Amino acid sequence: MSHILSAVAWPYANGPRHIGHVAGFGVPSDVFSRYMRMAGHDVLMVSGTDEHGTPILVAADAEGVSARELADRNNRLIVEDLVALGLSYDLFTRTTAGNHYRVVQEMFRTVRDNGYMVEQVTRSAISPSTGRTLPDRYIEGTCPICGADGARGDQCDTCGNQLDPTDLINPHSRINGETPEFIDSTHYFLDLPALADALGDWLDEREASGTWRPNVIRFSKNILAEIRPRAMTRDIDWGIPVPGWEDQPSKRLYVWFDAVIGYLSASIEWARRTGDAEAWKRWWADPNALSYYFMGKDNIVFHSQIWPAELLGYNGQGSRAGLPGVGPGALGALNLPTEVVSSEFLTMEGKKFSSSHGIVIYVRDFLERYQADALRYFICAAGPETADADFTWAEFVRRTNSELVAGWGNLVNRTATMIHKRFGAIPAPGEWAEEDTALLDAIEAGFDAVGDLIRAHRQKAALAEAMRLVGEVNKYIADTQPFKLKGEDEATQARLATILHTLAQAVADLNLMLSPFLPHAANDVDRVLGGAGRIAPMPRIEEADELDPEVLPADFDGRTGYPIITGDYTGAPTWGRHKVAVGIPIAKPAPVFAKLDESIVEQELARYADSAPDDVTGA
Ligand code: MF3
Ligand code: ZN
Repeated sequence: MSHILSAVAWPYANGPRHIGHVAGFGVPSDVFSRYMRMAGHDVLMVSGTDEHGTPILVAADAEGVSARELADRNNRLIVEDLVALGLSYDLFTRTTAGNHYRVVQEMFRTVRDNGYMVEQVTRSAISPSTGRTLPDRYIEGTCPICGADGARGDQCDTCGNQLDPTDLINPHSRINGETPEFIDSTHYFLDLPALADALGDWLDEREASGTWRPNVIRFSKNILAEIRPRAMTRDIDWGIPVPGWEDQPSKRLYVWFDAVIGYLSASIEWARRTGDAEAWKRWWADPNALSYYFMGKDNIVFHSQIWPAELLGYNGQGSRAGLPGVGPGALGALNLPTEVVSSEFLTMEGKKFSSSHGIVIYVRDFLERYQADALRYFICAAGPETADADFTWAEFVRRTNSELVAGWGNLVNRTATMIHKRFGAIPAPGEWAEEDTALLDAIEAGFDAVGDLIRAHRQKAALAEAMRLVGEVNKYIADTQPFKLKGEDEATQARLATILHTLAQAVADLNLMLSPFLPHAANDVDRVLGGAGRIAPMPRIEEADELDPEVLPADFDGRTGYPIITGDYTGAPTWGRHKVAVGIPIAKPAPVFAKLDESIVEQELARYADSAPDDVTGA
């Protein structure tokens, strides 16, 4: 049994989330967490909405509402969507929680006191026409590294490198196209070169573990070669106040400095809410604890460089040494990530998702029309695990109908229907035949195979193995032909009972094996098999009190609480065979998965064509 931190990327609260987002961080982290809990580990799965920085300000400005108003609305929408998908967070909170402000400021102070934050005068962009500072994301230009157009002042999405606005060639404002003016401004820089050796040692050790995806470790090592100090404060009036600069409210901490600390602050918030305020240390201070970070590939640099650097600086493990926090509020030495699990990108009908171009499928719209587990299935079977992947409606319909409905759903349905008709309850087996035990042995071995693959973050292969076993059971039905065993004589009845018992056991096993992928269906299938339908525990929304209202700035006057996602996930069965009970009544089943009509492909394509302008280039 290990303590496993499942650290899931924090979605920006700048709008509702689309299926590309949940394919990258959401579903994979949930499959992993659900499996690890069933395998007996103590999992803490945390995340929240990322609510600071220019992404939020840009969206708020565009709508003419305050940043807080925008964040409040999207936080709630995102919470509802993630719960509807069945993502089993122990705590999903937000970066505007007072607890987060406290933890971030403690981190910042200690990293600075340890000597890893240095003040530097920089060139800061302002708009010549308004005199207001122009945040990095409002500035666009040509990337100096790869030469791509449309690079932003904070990052180039084409090559993934972090940038400063002054790096851009031909910088211009995204608001009105004007060329920004650069003025002098003092900022705190994280002294990454002073942490580079420690970062390199950590990456070497992680590489030696052999578990990281090769592209992630390679990318992380490459960016280490280019390391330089990075500004951790910004000229912006929305964000966490900079300790020591409280008299300068127009300077705030950089959104990425605070967001990655969310994993730690959410663990602390979770512990405080459970009534054991120190409980988070089991995942952060115990050197045997393991931590897995789930995200899309555009987030790698922040998780394999900035976040470990913040932790090393806090621990005092860089070239300037230091102490892991001193005085009240000190957290002690903190664990670095065990593994950065990054996925690639999902496209839609061959194009990059783009809310502004109407090339988008919001999670909410999707779930209004289709089952959550149909989406989860598509993401797990065909998502961007190690290579970019494309979502098409035709492929969604094909996979849903031929794999979920005709493969798995049909097996469940046939099994329950035959048991219901012939015995009314799960029959006791008679004498086993070779084909029965061979099938049950193959399926039992599947628990190890599927579990090992999930543990290795090879969820596509894991799901394929489980579905291969579904095929084996369907083949067993074709071979044994229980529907032809009609005689009332004892021998025929005994053979029929054995086959149907074998099928009930096989379906129960496979249902458990599939439950990390298809938790809603797992509960439905469990009910079909006469169970209570609670083998895959579900998250819930709770209206939680704000724990530290006094540390929040005036932006939050009047906030007393916010919605969180939490849940009790201890009820899931352990990973492995649980013998079905003879005599459990089986009712006439209703189908678990809805078959999709082919016509939805045209309908959906028309829907998105209507909302997209004609000149969509996919950019
Ligand atoms: N909000 C970021 C994004 O959507 C992800 C932040 S992950 C965090 O790309 F951990 F840093 F919060
Ligand atoms: Zn670039």
